[in-house]
Amino acid sequence: MPLIAPSILAADFSRLGEQITAAVAGGADWIHLDVMDGHFVPNLTFGPAVIRAIRPVTALPFDAHLMIENPDRYIDEYRRAGADRITVHVETAPHLHRTVQHIRQSGARAGVSLNPATPVSSVRDILGEVDLVLLMSVNPGFGGQKFIPSSLGRIRELAAMIRGTGRHIELEVDGGIDAGTAPGVVAAGATVLVAGQAIFGSADIRSAIAGLRGATGPGTLV
Ligand code: DX5
Ligand code: ZN
Repeated sequence: MPLIAPSILAADFSRLGEQITAAVAGGADWIHLDVMDGHFVPNLTFGPAVIRAIRPVTALPFDAHLMIENPDRYIDEYRRAGADRITVHVETAPHLHRTVQHIRQSGARAGVSLNPATPVSSVRDILGEVDLVLLMSVNPGFGGQKFIPSSLGRIRELAAMIRGTGRHIELEVDGGIDAGTAPGVVAAGATVLVAGQAIFGSADIRSAIAGLRGATGPGTLV
């Protein structure tokens, strides 16, 4: 069964604490934090101050997805703010090995993320150093977008590559995950599902999470 990481991007920011508490009570495994800088992606969200403010709300892991240029400059700050997992985009990190070491030295688990058009092979040589790979199944920047169907083949490819390492590496899939797409994504090899709209846009957060977690079978997109 996959882990579920609700993305607070789709939460009501005027009552962020309450929304996180509802996700925790509803069975969330990680809290996914979408950090956007208005440069790498055409949107701005929140930074370390907000993460620090919500840190006391739960002991669940904070899964920070940095969609920012020059991530090296901010890794320690996000760690200090309370991020347990820090994921950078390979498209933003020309010295990816160094960046990943930096994340590990900060005490956080290290992740690398891929945009939909970035070859899966671009993370092959860093797999020995990371705890998770985050595959984008939409173009990053906004919640509520449609799942890109070709992501399924990419998930399979990445899952096989990860199995080949013999290491435990989470394969997290992010973008357009809902009850329709989750089964195919899990069947393809995802171990962590990020979902924003499908969880916080639902009237019943608990059953939305349970529905995603129970996702099995071929799904609607295979
Ligand atoms: C997009 C973000 C995603 C997004 C997912 O740039 O990385 O985490 O919030 O939102 P949904 O689940 O609504 O597609
Ligand atoms: Zn994300």
